Amino acid sequence: MGVFLALLPLLPMPTTATLKLPAKELSLPVIVGSEGEQAVDISKLRADSGFITYDDGFGNTGSCQSDITFIDGDVGILRYRGYPIEQLAEHSNFVETAYLVINGELPNTTARRRFGDLLRDHAPVHADMEHLFQGFPMGSHPMAILSALLNSLGCYYPHLATNNPSEDLANFEEASAIAISKVRTIAAMSYRKSHGLPYIYPKSTLPYCENFLHMMFSRPGEDYTPTPEVVAALNLFLLLHADHEQNCSTSTVRMVASSGANMFASTAAGVCALWGPLHGGANMAVLGMLESIHAEGDDGTKFVEAAKSGKGGHRLMGFGHRVYKNYDPRAKIIKASFDKALASLGIKDDPLLNIARRLEDAALKDEYFLARKLYPNVDFYSGLIMRALGIPQNMFTVMFAIGRMPGWIAHWREVAANPKNKIYRPRQIYVGKTKRDYLAIEKRA
Ligand code: CMC
Repeated sequence: MGVFLALLPLLPMPTTATLKLPAKELSLPVIVGSEGEQAVDISKLRADSGFITYDDGFGNTGSCQSDITFIDGDVGILRYRGYPIEQLAEHSNFVETAYLVINGELPNTTARRRFGDLLRDHAPVHADMEHLFQGFPMGSHPMAILSALLNSLGCYYPHLATNNPSEDLANFEEASAIAISKVRTIAAMSYRKSHGLPYIYPKSTLPYCENFLHMMFSRPGEDYTPTPEVVAALNLFLLLHADHEQNCSTSTVRMVASSGANMFASTAAGVCALWGPLHGGANMAVLGMLESIHAEGDDGTKFVEAAKSGKGGHRLMGFGHRVYKNYDPRAKIIKASFDKALASLGIKDDPLLNIARRLEDAALKDEYFLARKLYPNVDFYSGLIMRALGIPQNMFTVMFAIGRMPGWIAHWREVAANPKNKIYRPRQIYVGKTKRDYLAIEKRA
């Protein structure tokens, strides 16, 4: 049974594609994005032919049209709202970039001040929320706490979480400021809870990153004051994570949003999707990998061989990416800023960093990694930066979630505001049993 898809050679860009099915030929529209990406629009395929497409893992499927982030993974380009990540990393900071990602434009002075005021006003959590933390056992994973408490924001602000997209959109500015600001407070509280430490409340005089570090590391009566380099490293880390188009967690946020669910519920689902080691959990996994290589006295050679064989589920964590088939531009920026941050923290000779560098050198020369286009991704060095900042390992993915919140919010809004929004509901190829009749229990084998 032959199925043949050919793009008709129309200049300058094809406007249709022809799909030859066994008994039918279909002309399908071709959509072209603003950066020239081409897609075959199959939205009427099933209705017109009875066929569906099959794309395990969605590697070839465009699930939406979006104007938030552009990635060209073959050459290593990442842009938020058109701005190259390198320029934002050099000139902007997390809060300004969050505004850009959410609202589409860089803020002017008035908008920037207003956004900062909203973040400051919404930093504390409702006093009753503190009791929720008490219900979690000691040692609870902060990602579980974060997801649960983000979702609970809908209970504290029911007028912002009506599950009526137009009503929720009418209060978007307030809801988004709450989510951006409180994700950091909840994250810090979950850390304090998991270490049995008293909560430190936000200070209205401190900027976003300084305030987070204060809530994490100050003690009653003894304020933690980070160096400018530490603040810069945290700003950079969060900024580099602000959005990354249709990754697993963002697609999850969009999927939940497509049912009409509110922003808090949708982003809480994003936290759960981010938790896994193939996605945001990779930054924790990288550190775990480096520590076990160090503990075994390996210089990385044995581990690289194990990752190549795939035996025992070994993978070189922090390497490879579904989209980047080149060096992840975020990894390049983090790596370049690394030495400055470490020097300011007085870290000269870190054995784990040395292993990471050796692993990278070995993998970048190895035929296995070259043939599969496996390069370091953002998580390869970000865990080491977090560790240098004193962030405990089980908080690394939480840090990723704080950084990704602007992206999730922007994608939630794109779905909620789309007048043609359709609930996300893929099809499947059923491969289970065909029809059979019910057997009474005494007749079953
Ligand atoms: N180490 C060793 N082999 C690898 C790795 C790796 N890290 N990643 C992929 N491969 C191999 C894989 O075994 C397969 O080989 P073969 O063709 O011989 O079967 C080939 O490369 C293609 O792999 P894949 O799993 O089909 O690729 P994917 O696009 O589905 O997976 C990935 C992408 C990121 C899940 C994967 O590269 C991986 O597991 N990397 C390690 C985890 C990691 O660092 N994740 C963070 C991603 S960046 C942060 C984010 O955006 O979430």
